Amino acid sequence: MARFLLAFALLAVAATSWANVETPKVFCYYDSRSYVRETQAKMLPQDMDPALSYCTHLIYGYASIAHDTHKLVALNPNLDLDQGHGNYRVVTQMKRKFPQLKVLLSVGGGADNEEPEKYNTLLESPEARTAFISSASVLLRNYGFDGLDLAWQFPVIKPKKIRGTFSSIWHGIKKTFSSKVVDEKSEEHRDQFTKLVQETKNALRHDNMLLTATVIPNVNSSLYFDTHAIMNNLDYVILDGYDYNTPMRNPKEADYTAPLYELLERNPELNINFLVTWWLKNGFPNSKLILSMPSFGRAWKLDSDSAISGVPPLHTDGVAPEGPYTKHAGLLSYPEICTKLQNPSNAKGIHTHLRKVTDPSKRYGTYAFRVPDDNGDGGMWVSYEDPDTAGNKAGYVRAKGLAGIAVNDLSLDDFRGLCTGDKFPILRAAKYRLE
Ligand SMILES: *[C@@H]1O[C@H](CO)[C@@H](O)[C@H](O)[C@H]1NC(C)=O
Repeated sequence: MARFLLAFALLAVAATSWANVETPKVFCYYDSRSYVRETQAKMLPQDMDPALSYCTHLIYGYASIAHDTHKLVALNPNLDLDQGHGNYRVVTQMKRKFPQLKVLLSVGGGADNEEPEKYNTLLESPEARTAFISSASVLLRNYGFDGLDLAWQFPVIKPKKIRGTFSSIWHGIKKTFSSKVVDEKSEEHRDQFTKLVQETKNALRHDNMLLTATVIPNVNSSLYFDTHAIMNNLDYVILDGYDYNTPMRNPKEADYTAPLYELLERNPELNINFLVTWWLKNGFPNSKLILSMPSFGRAWKLDSDSAISGVPPLHTDGVAPEGPYTKHAGLLSYPEICTKLQNPSNAKGIHTHLRKVTDPSKRYGTYAFRVPDDNGDGGMWVSYEDPDTAGNKAGYVRAKGLAGIAVNDLSLDDFRGLCTGDKFPILRAAKYRLE
């Protein structure tokens, strides 16, 4: 009997660990700003249906904090809450159709633009943290969320010149004169964020809710995350491995926005492998790390001074004009890019279409561009994720033994199937390569 029980126990243990290895996590972000876009870019929650069987977690972005009361509040009450369109409830009720799904509410995420210093201010006072946490518990419970994601809006690093910065001696001299400190009190804020994480987890534990943190683009992990102190209180940490260079931050120079590995003569810290390695090296368990990839591209305008080869980094003339669907300068959704690419059926479109340049090394990513016409108009350079590069990143996640991937966000993937007829090609390619 005892032997039988032992065998049974061993089998159970084996089955559990096998199950953990075999079920990579897929975090799908839903950015509610997509609800107010027009035409092809307008995404309603029900448009997510074809994606949700691939997702283990659905993250609703984004909630806000009230700068005066420090409470967790809806960013767009009219969109989010029951007295408006009730989207919080619409997404949490998707669990009825997709019972495997955990639905989390994310706060911050770079979408909460009023009084940006309120994120640090909240951390500084125990009373403010308490107000945040109790309001969060109530909101999450009222709307049936399974947890909270802290996409905390810490101050971001200052953009720098991209090319050659690190090879020049002059840089070393200049740095000592003009080194810009991101946050004078970053050590205090790091310790206070640790407290926020512990206190929030204690409050959410009663309701068996999840707590995750998203490291948003251009936040320096080493300034704000005390890996050992937070790891037991976070279910997952989602690393946003993109927007290292954007046309808003670097208007005069374009470069890969989401490279997997370090490029020559670039800042060696601005790539996914550096980020992931930092978290692992600092003892954070790989079984709790999620790599987030974008479903959009970042687009710059080329002018007559731009290199006609298109090879980055290259001189640019600011932010490219908005796309036809998303109408957001400098950002193009995947379907806005794929429909602009040259293909055999429109070979004549040399001036109107973009030439795609893939990366056989699989280290840096894909870009597409067209040089300006004779009048100097229409030049564009865009760095973006496509199904191949997304699949490649999922392969990296597997090789490093991380918990899974995130796609940010569903509304910028090709949710209508405009590229090839298949819906959500980026999400699907990544998910496929995880298995
Ligand atoms: C991040 O902060 C560390 C100090 O903790 C610093 O050495 C490093 O250069 C910073 N990284 C970037 C990209 O600014």
